Amino acid sequence: MVTRKKAKRAKSKAAANKSARKVARLNMKNPAIKTPVRRNAPPRPSSKPWGEAGRALDGVRILDFTHVQSGPTCTQLLAYMGADVIKVERPGIGDVTRGQLRDVKDADSLYFTMLNGSKRSITIDSKHPKGREVLDRLVKACDVLVENFAPGALDRMGLTWEHIHKVNPRMIVASVKGFGPGPYEDCKVYENVAQCAGGSASTTGFRDGPPLVTGAQIGDSGTGLHLALGVVAALYQRNRTGRGQKVLCAMQDGVLNLARVKLRDQQRLGHGPLTEYSQYGEGVPFGRATPRAGNDSGGGQPGWILKCKGWESDPDAYVYFITQAPVWGAICDVIGKPEWKSDPDYATPPARLPRLRHIFDTIEQWTLTKTKFEVMEICNKLDIPVGPILSMKELAEEPSLRATGTVVEVDHPTRGAYLTVGNPIKLSDSPADVRRSPLLGEHTDEILRQVLDYSAPEIVEIKASGAITAPDKPVKAEAA
Ligand code: COA
Repeated sequence: MVTRKKAKRAKSKAAANKSARKVARLNMKNPAIKTPVRRNAPPRPSSKPWGEAGRALDGVRILDFTHVQSGPTCTQLLAYMGADVIKVERPGIGDVTRGQLRDVKDADSLYFTMLNGSKRSITIDSKHPKGREVLDRLVKACDVLVENFAPGALDRMGLTWEHIHKVNPRMIVASVKGFGPGPYEDCKVYENVAQCAGGSASTTGFRDGPPLVTGAQIGDSGTGLHLALGVVAALYQRNRTGRGQKVLCAMQDGVLNLARVKLRDQQRLGHGPLTEYSQYGEGVPFGRATPRAGNDSGGGQPGWILKCKGWESDPDAYVYFITQAPVWGAICDVIGKPEWKSDPDYATPPARLPRLRHIFDTIEQWTLTKTKFEVMEICNKLDIPVGPILSMKELAEEPSLRATGTVVEVDHPTRGAYLTVGNPIKLSDSPADVRRSPLLGEHTDEILRQVLDYSAPEIVEIKASGAITAPDKPVKAEAA
């Protein structure tokens, strides 16, 4: 039987088709209009002012099963972009980082708070039968599950891909693992292991020293960032296919992707020495693998870190200085060596290569007379690429980073105000939503009620089962 509602829908569909056909006819008559008429046309551009049409990921709900750094980086970015991120934590313990590197007694650490902003927290014991029931309901209610457990841990909870896909075929399951399929796939991996396994450490440091890890967390945060891109791509594809998929980012792969210029150099080595490396100018032969290059610039334009005024007492009084070929004349003038402009030993990039050490020593004689900010000011005007070495203190206090929302101060009920890094990706129509991190289980009731639709008696039953409450004796969070 055709209901009135159905008939009304059919009528309005027919009207829409009729008007689409009319537009198509008109378009065909007008050769200036090339755009074909699309069946599922996207909505018309919003008439709301920029930044007031919601956020990019509004309506996306994320089951955040992440911990430590890599996974939380991914979900925090998605939360900044408007996703409703529900962090599932173990009752009484939570993400292990809540208690790591604590600076304020009994308050969540900065390690945790700076990686879990703008999220909600629910506690569920995923190994408790009732907890599993609640988790399945959450799987049904969410679009994406993000996790970075050790290999096999999610399966041991019963949350296999097959199970998740059966409960919610639209669910995207995004994982960070240390390694992709292969000999090391079962290994647990932390930041520095990934930096070493992904080629960063072997190419970082000085030639005559050991491999070095970098301060930037390219293994953890870098892989989380890669994963976030995978998640939004999978969400986009789901619009067409109607089904979720697995998204995997291995930390080794993420680091190698960021170190790709060093794999470039590995291949160049097969065709001769790497002339932009200072070891070439110094006559030191190359080995079989991409060497460590100290502070050499990787882009083919020689560069180095030079001391500035005050370096004796300030460990960050340095500047990165690039002797870019097109501004060589300006460099010679500014450092008081105008004769180098026409001297055949210095006038061309190939002539300078064997003399780079001497050239940078000479430039340093000039930078030593200026602060790093004075060098920046003088050189910028001349288009000479330089960069002051900024300390974390200077970055924390930099007004322009506060103004753009890259460094944000948020308040917290137990630790007070703290600084966090906001969204480094600026969307002109989706202002970042940077809020404090949640307390452990802060939103448990709210999520059970509003997201999972449990009634008050059901919530009482779940609580009584022990699936969402801490054990009597809190288990001590072990240090990583
Ligand atoms: N309820 C009950 N149990 C829970 C739970 C919950 N809500 N949340 C987690 N657990 C359990 C897991 O099921 C797992 O138990 P199992 O091993 O008995 O099955 C356990 O807690 C811990 O998981 P695991 O991931 O092994 O933690 P870990 O502290 O031993 O290892 C890492 C930490 C980071 C090394 C590991 O998770 C890993 O290699 N992850 C992938 C790579 C990665 O992201 N590394 C970078 C981290 S920044």
